[in-house]
Amino acid sequence: MPSTSMRVAALLACAPLALAAPKTTAAKQAAAASSPAPPIRSHPTSISHGPYSGIPLATGALSNSIVGTGIPSLPPNPAATSYPSDGRLHEPQPAPYVPAGGMGTNGTPPVYNAKSDFDYESLALALYQEWIELDLFHDGLARFSEQDFTAAGLTAEDRYLIQFMAEQEAGHATMISNILGAQAPQQCTYNYPYRTVREFIDFSQKLTRFGESGVYGFLPHLDSREAAQLLLQSITTEARQQMILRQFDGLFPVPVWFEVGVPQSWAWTLLAPFISSCPAGQTRLVWQNFPALWILNQPNPARVNASAGYNETISAGMNTLSSANLTTSEACAYSNNTLDDCKPAITQNRTIPLSYPGRRVFLSWETPGKPVGPNNSYVTSSQAGSPKYVAWVTQLNVTYSSLDVTNATSGSTVQPNVETYAGDPAINGTMFIAITDDDPYLTPFNLSLINRHVVAGPALYQAG
Ligand SMILES: *[C@@H]1O[C@H](CO)[C@@H](O)[C@H](O)[C@H]1NC(C)=O
Ligand SMILES: *[C@@H]1O[C@H](CO)[C@@H](O)[C@H](O)[C@H]1NC(C)=O
Ligand SMILES: *[C@@H]1O[C@H](CO)[C@@H](O)[C@H](O)[C@H]1NC(C)=O
Ligand SMILES: *[C@@H]1O[C@H](CO)[C@@H](O)[C@H](O)[C@H]1NC(C)=O
Ligand SMILES: *[C@@H]1O[C@H](CO)[C@@H](O)[C@H](O)[C@H]1NC(C)=O
Ligand SMILES: *[C@@H]1O[C@H](CO)[C@@H](O)[C@H](O)[C@H]1NC(C)=O
Ligand SMILES: *[C@@H]1O[C@H](CO)[C@@H](O)[C@H](O)[C@H]1NC(C)=O
Ligand SMILES: *[C@@H]1O[C@H](CO)[C@@H](O)[C@H](O)[C@H]1NC(C)=O
Ligand SMILES: *[C@@H]1O[C@H](CO)[C@@H](O)[C@H](O)[C@H]1NC(C)=O
Ligand SMILES: *[C@@H]1O[C@H](CO)[C@@H](O)[C@H](O)[C@H]1NC(C)=O
Repeated sequence: MPSTSMRVAALLACAPLALAAPKTTAAKQAAAASSPAPPIRSHPTSISHGPYSGIPLATGALSNSIVGTGIPSLPPNPAATSYPSDGRLHEPQPAPYVPAGGMGTNGTPPVYNAKSDFDYESLALALYQEWIELDLFHDGLARFSEQDFTAAGLTAEDRYLIQFMAEQEAGHATMISNILGAQAPQQCTYNYPYRTVREFIDFSQKLTRFGESGVYGFLPHLDSREAAQLLLQSITTEARQQMILRQFDGLFPVPVWFEVGVPQSWAWTLLAPFISSCPAGQTRLVWQNFPALWILNQPNPARVNASAGYNETISAGMNTLSSANLTTSEACAYSNNTLDDCKPAITQNRTIPLSYPGRRVFLSWETPGKPVGPNNSYVTSSQAGSPKYVAWVTQLNVTYSSLDVTNATSGSTVQPNVETYAGDPAINGTMFIAITDDDPYLTPFNLSLINRHVVAGPALYQAG
């Protein structure tokens, strides 16, 4: 049990240190040498896993009085283009070597808290994500034996790296909890679909992709620049985890020039199905759960010819690979050809790319109204009309392909051929697709305007 002063220190961990620190240099040095580090937030170290079997409390997303029906598309703000951008200084400098402008640069002390509902809900979502990652990394290590990991090409040192990732998550969860205060969401219990080390690694590689991208989507929109600073410093760590997990998955570590950002409701849609229950009194979220989307011929990183699999995933949404029924000649883990194999490695060339422009992609999706998430207490919904397009959200781009509808809940499309910049095929890596009713022009900063057009999804498409 931490002492009261330690708990106070934890709550203040994000407050400006100068206010609390001793004033003299000697006292400061003494304090630096002896003061204990703030503790991590307490959380259960052993939790049960499996589906939720209680009575669904279908209460839906957190809401208040809703005064509008949608966010309008407005004309540009004229001030947005008034700065000359000519390489010269245009305002008097507040101090030597300091240019005028910037936010939070006038000397007022930073306050590391939530400053709006948008901030609180976004940070609370990020905390749900950190909690599942903390449990996920521990669970993989606990569930599979040393022999299982060795057979998947992962050593004791690799397992230690996964354990260290779990410890990083305890730090991230503490940091966000300190920002949010007493009602910060608690750790929940989870239900994972993976059955092999390979599936666990692929699941983790995909889960950290939307953890990372879900934060990039809201980070520049936060009112609290201070909270954004700390969250940025945790998400860059998560980005490294995602890349390492791709390496463990035998994938090319970073096949894109830019990492994509997605809206909060996309991250929540992908995350919620794996949360079985949360403790009584848990703080709820405002975000939407969209109907689930399956990629029937999801490229399977465990295959020599990734494109050849059909119905080979263990869940909707994330569309994590199934390694269950691959023959020795189909499974790239057993290949002796260095260009076909997919053993864990710093980098891997694949003779046969996981996907390619012009590939037909078969999809099926659910209709709204299904209970999902913690205690089955959220309900999937969509404000969109009929399905017409597939949105490919990757790097800096949103690209649409037309959907060939088979029936109300299935169809197919063709993987587009687009580049972000010349030489950078936009569709690569672990990226996002969704079924939409329209094809609005969107860029990274206004991507959330896509939400009212989402029929189903997102799903993670394993393009490369
Ligand atoms: C969710 O279900 C569990 C197990 O039945 C229960 O203990 C918990 O209080 C429920 N959580 C909420 C937020 O209702
Ligand atoms: C990979 O599988 C796809 C789908 O079955 C097939 O069309 C393609 O020819 C295969 N590629 C190679 C190089 O074998
Ligand atoms: C996919 O496989 C599962 C069993 O593993 C089956 O229940 C389901 O109907 C299949 N879906 C399609 C579209 O073939
Ligand atoms: C693997 O094959 C078994 C036996 O044919 C079948 O029951 C099972 O559904 C298959 N699993 C997957 C993931 O395709
Ligand atoms: C790869 O080489 C090993 C050792 O020579 C052999 O046992 C295995 O069958 C080979 N794998 C394939 C897919 O040919
Ligand atoms: C790896 O792939 C790249 C791009 O296709 C190619 O230029 C390079 O020669 C390949 N290297 C090896 C060792 O296969
Ligand atoms: C993705 O990037 C890798 C590495 O550069 C490349 O080998 C592969 O062909 C790319 N895939 C697609 C679909 O462009
Ligand atoms: C839609 O088409 C798919 C593929 O043909 C089929 O498996 C599914 O049962 C159909 N669903 C409905 C609701 O008709
Ligand atoms: C991708 O995004 C970049 C940067 O916004 C833009 O210049 C480019 O035209 C986009 N490409 C496509 C195919 O939309
Ligand atoms: C999104 O932003 C772009 C500018 O980057 C703008 O042209 C487009 O109209 C915006 N989309 C919507 C739906 O407002």
